[in-house]
Amino acid sequence: MKPPTPFLLLLPPLTPVFPTLIDFAVNSLLTPLTSLSSLLPSSHPTLYTPSTDPSPSTRQQEIATNAAGFGYGPSKLGDTSYFPNGTLADRLVAEQWAEWQAENAAFALPVAGEMVVVGAKVRTEGDDLQDLDDFKTLYDGQWPLTVPDGVSPGLLGNYTADDTADATFAMARLSGNPFSLVRLPPDQEPPFRVEEETCRRITGEGFEALWKQGRMFVMEYAFFGEEKYVSHRFPERYLASTTSLFYISGDSNSNATSSNSNTTGERPGRGRSQFLPLAIKTGVGQNLVYTRLDGEYEWLLAKIAANSNDLFFGQIYHLIATHAVAEIVNLAAIRTVSGRHPVRAYLERIMYRAYAVRPVGEQILFNRGGFFDGIFSLSSRAVTTFATTFYHNSTSAHFRGNYLLPELAARGLINSTIGPELPQFPFLEDMAVIHAAIHDFAHALVDEYYTTDDDVRRDNELINWFNECNSPAKVLDFPPAEDLSKTVLVDVLTHMAYLAGPKHAALNMGTPFTTSGVLPLFPAALYRPMPQQKGEVHRANIHEWLPDTTQAVKQVRLLGLFNRPEELLRYQGTRMLDLWSGWEGEGSERGAMRTAAREFRRRLERLDKVIKGRTLSGERRRGRGFVFKTLAPGRFPYYLAI
Ligand SMILES: [Fe+2]
Repeated sequence: MKPPTPFLLLLPPLTPVFPTLIDFAVNSLLTPLTSLSSLLPSSHPTLYTPSTDPSPSTRQQEIATNAAGFGYGPSKLGDTSYFPNGTLADRLVAEQWAEWQAENAAFALPVAGEMVVVGAKVRTEGDDLQDLDDFKTLYDGQWPLTVPDGVSPGLLGNYTADDTADATFAMARLSGNPFSLVRLPPDQEPPFRVEEETCRRITGEGFEALWKQGRMFVMEYAFFGEEKYVSHRFPERYLASTTSLFYISGDSNSNATSSNSNTTGERPGRGRSQFLPLAIKTGVGQNLVYTRLDGEYEWLLAKIAANSNDLFFGQIYHLIATHAVAEIVNLAAIRTVSGRHPVRAYLERIMYRAYAVRPVGEQILFNRGGFFDGIFSLSSRAVTTFATTFYHNSTSAHFRGNYLLPELAARGLINSTIGPELPQFPFLEDMAVIHAAIHDFAHALVDEYYTTDDDVRRDNELINWFNECNSPAKVLDFPPAEDLSKTVLVDVLTHMAYLAGPKHAALNMGTPFTTSGVLPLFPAALYRPMPQQKGEVHRANIHEWLPDTTQAVKQVRLLGLFNRPEELLRYQGTRMLDLWSGWEGEGSERGAMRTAAREFRRRLERLDKVIKGRTLSGERRRGRGFVFKTLAPGRFPYYLAI
């Protein structure tokens, strides 16, 4: 089948380096994937719940075969959720791993070619990254095949100039990775304090007042200072273990963002209510506390150190919070629910190639001396420690506890009973639309196959699935079978698609390249210890803490490998907005499902257009530091196969 819009024609001219290899790679990407076509049916005419299936014995045999062929094996990702093993599981994993390798090999070739071009350009035109502005040469006009859309506008340049730099730092906490920010309750002691006078000069208000009014927030990465992590630090690379405080500034009639600051760094607190950084404690060496009243490059380095912690956290958190959870819930379904069941059709779609990812991690990414070890300050052994620790000792992998809105509320980011609402929340602004569309489709599916709650409770496959999740599969915080109802089933299905598509994409896929890993603000490692005293960091030497050309190009290349260009996804039919294309066709026996699928696409297409229409000037007028486009539903896939 020919693609309607050839991927190649929509790309900028090919780079002259290794033209043959790149041509080969791009043409390989144009080849339809054999397994993909089977996941794109024009309709689902043969789906049955157990009570309506005309061949119950065949169905029971199928379930028994899968239960015997798919077992719960060792995690491959620290001690987290089980990974499938058994005769059928091994075959499935091998098949998905082989398909993933074929696609990745094709994609990695142009990335490798572009990496060579970028490295040469940085050395000749970028002065080997001796100045902050040189880092633009890593991106400007580069990576046309890897990440055609480039970096989020607003993240390059303007590192210290005015409040935009602080708005950018703060907004990073509320966009791709909002999962480590917590509102500080008035009855909870702050992790550290800022002197009243200092706080007043920055915010116009006292520290105690901000805290007691519920206007203070914490991003806590002090745990990186624990021996179990720092013992895996590479000797030539460094990290801080930061604790960052943020606050919501007071309201006033002014709309000007930049008028709040003056040349001393004081921000009297008058102006539009904003979410802004207050102070950062480094957690290493002399444990210095920085604010914007310090030297502008010292303050910048403190923010870079916090961003570096956040990059590590976001990447490994995404593994346990999305992959590890979605995979085990689906594995339990494979063992208990027939492939003819509408719930399995739903899950099969979103779990496309999901079981390739842990082999990728084991063999390419987190292997000793692999990609991860190439750029991060902590080795992949720290990844194993982190994954195991956070999976079991935090709520990161809890199922119900991570439903979108309740989880944000639990951290005080929405519906807070104390303090004002966040003046803006880019992540939620887009995610709420996607989540609602997913929920409504799941609702339509459940409505289509079940009339009452009792109908759902009479579905022995669903009962078995819920029991399986709670017992042998050991899913954390999964609803008990006794709670099964239409609403509970809708919530479970909604959460699975949220984990696999938009939550995964917010944290991973192309986001680290475009946003959460952009240099020089978000390095994977520091290359000099944090200062032991104030006054050591200047424009002329801040590059010493940052990656050199070789390391910088390696970082950008690795993050680029996780991207999948929009035109490729469009061709494959795997964009988020394509999720239910199989139910959209005229051939579908289920008219209600066809309507729901078309409505799903319509809503996401509308959001896609809104997000892609954002401009830097427009976003700056809204008080945002950069343009957040990560959650445009045409730009990311519905799957978590990377
Ligand atoms: Fe991922």
